[in-house]
Amino acid sequence: MDPFIRQFGKPSGLPGKMLGKVMAVSNRKMHRAVLSELKAPSKLLEIGFWSGHQLEMISRRYHACELSGIDISADMLSIAKKRLGTKAKLSVCNCEQMRFPDRCFDFVITTDTCYFWNDPIKVLHEIKRILRPNGRLILAYNSMYARAVHKSDPTKGMYDDAGIEKAVTGSGMKIQSRKPCGMGQAVFVISHILPPSE
Ligand SMILES: C[S@@+](CC[C@H](N)C(=O)[O-])C[C@H]1O[C@@H](n2cnc3c(N)ncnc32)[C@H](O)[C@@H]1O
Repeated sequence: MDPFIRQFGKPSGLPGKMLGKVMAVSNRKMHRAVLSELKAPSKLLEIGFWSGHQLEMISRRYHACELSGIDISADMLSIAKKRLGTKAKLSVCNCEQMRFPDRCFDFVITTDTCYFWNDPIKVLHEIKRILRPNGRLILAYNSMYARAVHKSDPTKGMYDDAGIEKAVTGSGMKIQSRKPCGMGQAVFVISHILPPSE
């Protein structure tokens, strides 16, 4: 993968810190669109929090919500911890192998990350496992960044609407809505609906 694009997939050091500031601005529309899809969250996980701007935004609106975040980058953990203090439980973790118990979150959110996942169906199964019945995944992505990642590493599969739809269907979850929210950007609301017998 191109070293510049790799910084977005696993930011580190000073370049990661600087890019985090840029992304906080360039991703603001997606962050706001994700926020608008949250309905009284009580326990929420963010996958790929980078410098913690999105979690900070949510903590300001939903004081009682228990916030957690994971990111694959240890450097970003220390930056986000400084920003969020005790407002969120943060850890370094790969979303393909999450250590959370079954059915513990009512919302999982992830912005601008899905095109870095090696095995999207595995990640979506993991998300389904940790979501409570009728819990929701809010997934925001930028198709322009996504195509650049895919071009740099063609093994990355969730880079357009069709790839997202295919992976969500493969995981057994259901897309409830897709809303555009800026140039090439969109937010998917994805539900984990259990059949009545379960
Ligand atoms: C482009 S940044 C997006 C950051 C932030 N969500 C935003 O909207 O500004 C992608 C983030 O996902 C994280 N990430 C990538 N692959 C991951 C994985 N497998 N598990 C957890 N985090 C991951 C990266 O370390 C990085 O912080």
